[in-house]
Amino acid sequence: MPDTQTQIVKINEVGTRDGLQNEPVFVDTDDKIDLINQLSSLGYAKIEVTSFTSPAAIPALRDAEVVMHRIERRPGVVYTALIPNIRGGERALECKVDEFNLVMSASETHNLANLRMTRNQSLRQLADVVRLARHEQVPVNISLSCVFGCPMEGEVAASEVIDLVGRFAEMGAEGVTLCDTTGMAYPTQVTQVCAQVLDAYPDMNVTGHFHNTRGMGLANVLAALQAGVGQFDMSLGGIGGCPYAPGASGNVATEDVVHMLNCMGHDTGIQVEDLIAASHRLQALVGHDMPAQVSRAGPRLTRHPPPSGFDEIRNRALNREQSIGRP
Ligand code: COA
Ligand code: ZN
Repeated sequence: MPDTQTQIVKINEVGTRDGLQNEPVFVDTDDKIDLINQLSSLGYAKIEVTSFTSPAAIPALRDAEVVMHRIERRPGVVYTALIPNIRGGERALECKVDEFNLVMSASETHNLANLRMTRNQSLRQLADVVRLARHEQVPVNISLSCVFGCPMEGEVAASEVIDLVGRFAEMGAEGVTLCDTTGMAYPTQVTQVCAQVLDAYPDMNVTGHFHNTRGMGLANVLAALQAGVGQFDMSLGGIGGCPYAPGASGNVATEDVVHMLNCMGHDTGIQVEDLIAASHRLQALVGHDMPAQVSRAGPRLTRHPPPSGFDEIRNRALNREQSIGRP
């Protein structure tokens, strides 16, 4: 097991894609661009800007081209986007994304519900999109949904996950994201599945993507980290979820994960205070409370004033102590 004392952990923001795709309000295009520009300076490894999906399927991200074209790109940050099919790949190329993040599901039922294709049809489409990307020298990551369970099928066999990752490697994808789409993963399972994938495909960049639907998100991040995963998707404020996965709710919150990792001495390259400020801005845009905890409570050494009447409490206690003498 790798040493997890002080690792560099790469942080990917997916709030502008996984987060906003699930919001009932359409966040104004200029606001999306301003938010992404703010996030660009915070130290993220990667920002998933948007998705090039059908606007009928994901109306909240129907402005993908404009957003992708108008954001200011900061060197060192990978600006990626979710792509479900060849049409999405062509749109993304036209916008010069830094990476294609393709998507399919480990579960047949979720793949049909989300992408309207069987997994075999998805695999064929993805192979075409990977060819397109490689021709243009754009790196490819594939986000595999429902790796740790499907809300419609139940358990998903780890062997199926390994087989699919093998297919992605054969196609020429550089990375795979193991997605817990509806928060069904638990830490020992995460350790096992991540270790198996890393073992079988040591050249693949493996990213963890956890939703906090059942409160196990942070524990699952730690389990994956301990298994050797060094890169994670997360969402500011903890918003997010797949509209085509019943019961889906938010990703692990960026401020909560980064706060935990920073406390443990890992190097995320991000200051929690900056994330809290950005999270409050996002909250104003979506117009509701968000599940993240650290943006409400503040970092762990946030100091509060003592209760009212404290001086009197202290003086009385000190007087009593003097009259009693040393213990
Ligand atoms: N971008 C824009 N439009 C697209 C598109 C894309 N990538 N892919 C298909 N379309 C359009 C087609 O042109 C067609 O438009 P028309 O009705 O005006 O002719 C319409 O969408 C239907 O096309 P079709 O190929 O029949 O797609 P579909 O209805 O079977 O849907 C997907 C397939 C993959 C496009 C759609 O299900 C989708 O975008 N899913 C994304 C789901 C998602 O992002 N979930 C959350 C992330 S996990
Ligand atoms: Zn997700």
